[in-house]
Amino acid sequence: MNTGAPRMAGVIGWPVEHSLSPRVHGYWLKKHNIAGDYVRLSAPPEDFETIVWKAAAEGFRGANVTVPHKEKAAALCARLDPAAEAMGAVNTLVFEPGGVIAGLNTDGYGFMQNLRAGAPGWSARRPAAVLGAGGAARAVCHALKDAGCGEIRIINRTLARAEALADSLGGGTVYAWEDRAAALKGAGLLVNTTTLGMTAAPALEPGLEPALEIDMSALPKDAVVTDIVYTPLETPLLAAAQRRGLTAVDGLGMLLHQAAPGFEAWFGVKPEVDEALRAHLMAAGG
Ligand code: ATR
Repeated sequence: MNTGAPRMAGVIGWPVEHSLSPRVHGYWLKKHNIAGDYVRLSAPPEDFETIVWKAAAEGFRGANVTVPHKEKAAALCARLDPAAEAMGAVNTLVFEPGGVIAGLNTDGYGFMQNLRAGAPGWSARRPAAVLGAGGAARAVCHALKDAGCGEIRIINRTLARAEALADSLGGGTVYAWEDRAAALKGAGLLVNTTTLGMTAAPALEPGLEPALEIDMSALPKDAVVTDIVYTPLETPLLAAAQRRGLTAVDGLGMLLHQAAPGFEAWFGVKPEVDEALRAHLMAAGG
């Protein structure tokens, strides 16, 4: 049991109401019997910096940062970890003594931990095909590159965004959205980072985003398919992959694993991502 003032952390976003992070950190705080709290901090873009410094002044240990503030958060930091540096975006702030803010980007780490846990046989040796070129794709592609993936194929509706992402990686093959089926030939991994297939928020009715339509017949039989969408947990893409006998990895683990480094930095305990935590999140409609 800890003594002294409760330790505080939170998630800063706009909107932030649907964030599942308070449920994840709340679970770990309770499990480890830590006197602390993790709260939502709603921050319209023009108030982001003020809200960060106010939280730091109030004794918060740090915060997660979500859309649309990740780039702005990087600009506030005195120090960035290599992933945040490479992406120019931060999802985890650590408030240090003396008014110093350190920034981490754990999205790619979360993606990779989830992939390794769900598909232990996955190897970086074969090409990876990534659908999408937004912030999530950036984290996934950087993580794949760091894991030693030699060929990353970026498939996006807006080609210019795919090209910009390939440039920032220092390489990558770019495919038009219409050519997505052909881009899967010989790939060991398919990742969806687009919003297609997602319901807007837990417990809302499905169908708010169109399903992702993709012909997966060019994927080798032992390929892995993963979706960073986790509402619903089994997206139409993952269901189709399973029907083909491919290994399907859902996206909930990415959310859970990306949260762990922040929890450790703020609360001093390395938390576990296990089935009980997944069940806790799913009971919330996640
Ligand atoms: P995030 O930062 O969470 O990745 P984002 O930057 O809004 O979010 O990116 C969303 C991704 O989903 C983009 O790759 C987007 O394609 P564009 O770059 O062409 O916008 C993709 N996406 C969204 N709706 C789509 C649709 N109907 N068809 C194909 N791709 C779509």
